[in-house]
Amino acid sequence: MKLLIAGKGGVGKTTVAALLSHILADNGYSVLALDTDSVPNLAQSLGLPLEVAEGLVPLAKNEELAEERTGARPGEGWGLLFSLTPKVDDIVDKFGVRVRDGLSLVVVGSIDAGKEGCLCPAIALAKAFLNHVLLKRREVIVVDAEAGAEVFGRGLAEKFDMTICVSEPTVKSLAISRKLIKMSRDLGVRRNVLVINKVVDNLRAAQLYAKMFSNDPVPYHIVRYDENLVSIEARGLGVTSLPKGSPVVSDVFSLYNKVLKLIKL
Ligand SMILES: Nc1ncnc2c1ncn2[C@@H]1O[C@H](COP(=O)(O)OP(=O)(O)OP(=O)(O)O)[C@@H](O)[C@H]1O
Ligand SMILES: [Mg+2]
Repeated sequence: MKLLIAGKGGVGKTTVAALLSHILADNGYSVLALDTDSVPNLAQSLGLPLEVAEGLVPLAKNEELAEERTGARPGEGWGLLFSLTPKVDDIVDKFGVRVRDGLSLVVVGSIDAGKEGCLCPAIALAKAFLNHVLLKRREVIVVDAEAGAEVFGRGLAEKFDMTICVSEPTVKSLAISRKLIKMSRDLGVRRNVLVINKVVDNLRAAQLYAKMFSNDPVPYHIVRYDENLVSIEARGLGVTSLPKGSPVVSDVFSLYNKVLKLIKL
């Protein structure tokens, strides 16, 4: 099962990715979470201590490893000299961080050369790694994508079983999600779920969904606004510190059930 968590900036992708990863692990799945944001912070949301999280070097920025694996030195472009099939099958073991039983994280970083500056060999390595993971690894893969639509233009999105598009309950945010879901469908991702997050008024959110998605219905799921997130974030804690019965925990748990049902269809 390969799940892509997409959406515009700040809507709650990392929060949903972290909670879903823990819930999957709680239920006996072996989970590999991948952070592909250019400013990675999934480690912290998963509950790793700040000093551990801050010490993680994204693969897309690991020039030393890229040089070792591709033969290209930093600053060299997309030359013909470096290997296009670098060794990546040991990266989860060597660079993955064990969050808990059944849950590991690899910080990949952004594979968007425009965003990272041209660390070309390192980005080539990160991309080769993502391809490898999506084709070969047997764990449940949860990818916390970078904000926006770039993720659908990199030859990777089509390898996912499901796109979970996170949105806020606003016209603007839902309009962007509608576009992202269309891109995902056009690439052949068969299962797409819209998560309307930070919802204060469920009825209004449902009405807004009905208005915005009347022509292109998609399974949607409401996640309520949760004050507890504000409080854990202020203390630098991860989602594991949320109180039991916290609205966001129980709503992402129902999302988990919905995802399983849709995957089995
Ligand atoms: N259901 C919710 N209730 C209240 N606050 C929330 C909820 N979901 C997310 N947030 C808050 O919104 C902010 C953004 O969340 P998060 O970092 O998960 O978004 P993101 O989409 O990953 O952002 P980015 O695009 O910057 O990576 C955080 O402060 C988070 O605590
Ligand atoms: Mg994020």
